[in-house]
Amino acid sequence: MRIEPLRAGFGATIQGIDPAREADASLRAALQDAIDRHAVLVFPGQRLDTEGQLRFSRIFGELQPTLAARRDGAAAAGPREVGSIGNVDALGRTVGAGERQRILQLSNLLWHTDEAFSVDRGRYTFLSAHVVPPEGGATQFVDMRAAFSALPVREQNRLLLLRVRHSLAQSRRLAGTPALAALEEDRFPAVWHPLVHAAADGRLALYLASYACAIEGWNDDDARREIDRLMAAATRPELVLEHRWREGDLVMWDNFCTMHRGTPFDDQHHRRQLRRTTVSESGARARRTALTAAA
Ligand code: OGA
Ligand code: MN
Repeated sequence: MRIEPLRAGFGATIQGIDPAREADASLRAALQDAIDRHAVLVFPGQRLDTEGQLRFSRIFGELQPTLAARRDGAAAAGPREVGSIGNVDALGRTVGAGERQRILQLSNLLWHTDEAFSVDRGRYTFLSAHVVPPEGGATQFVDMRAAFSALPVREQNRLLLLRVRHSLAQSRRLAGTPALAALEEDRFPAVWHPLVHAAADGRLALYLASYACAIEGWNDDDARREIDRLMAAATRPELVLEHRWREGDLVMWDNFCTMHRGTPFDDQHHRRQLRRTTVSESGARARRTALTAAA
């Protein structure tokens, strides 16, 4: 396995492994170490099928059913753990701009980290590219460990014990879909998470997202201003790592030390089809415990 860092300490390209093949214990350990260190891993041109992606993702823990599967139940097509991202649905049909899948995914264009609005958050997300538009539709990442360490120490200390409220409805409002926000408010009650936590490499990281809507003990205006300020500082253009997809790429990231967002593309004329799997926070934790016990 060859690791080529994309920039100092954030993002790496992995060459020389076949994610479709069964991984032995030493490869698993090397992959875990690589994601802990680099936070975003790019595996170019893998062309994984759904089975291959499921198997590779499960190296890192149990998967979460997609939001669509949880909301729509049996009506969702395909395996419950595999999400269709873009304007092609699970049956290969192009989805129009006003259709449900597109509206539900508008919030992917806002800086976020996956499933921050859940008690059992998204830990690792895997996206594989099946159809890529000729331009646009890149995915961007920022390093939330770097975002924390860039703050003055006085400010770091002030943030350490704060808790932030995350709600899916908040990002629906920001995405310009208030009717959906009202529905989501009831389906997915908001949750609290610490603003600062230790990332896998031991460094402290900010944990924020478009879902952030309140700070414990703060009035709404002050909280909004503080969240916006921290989000803006974390996502300064010079900090952004952009992945321009090529067909067959697989990218995975650690949601506990990054934020990401999709970028627009001409969805009237072009198709974009990515498949997503996500290891839950509890799934990743259970796997680590099992590994430690076995060692
Ligand atoms: C996601 C997501 C961004 C993109 O699937 O969780 O945020 O570029 N996707 O599609
Ligand atoms: Mn996402």
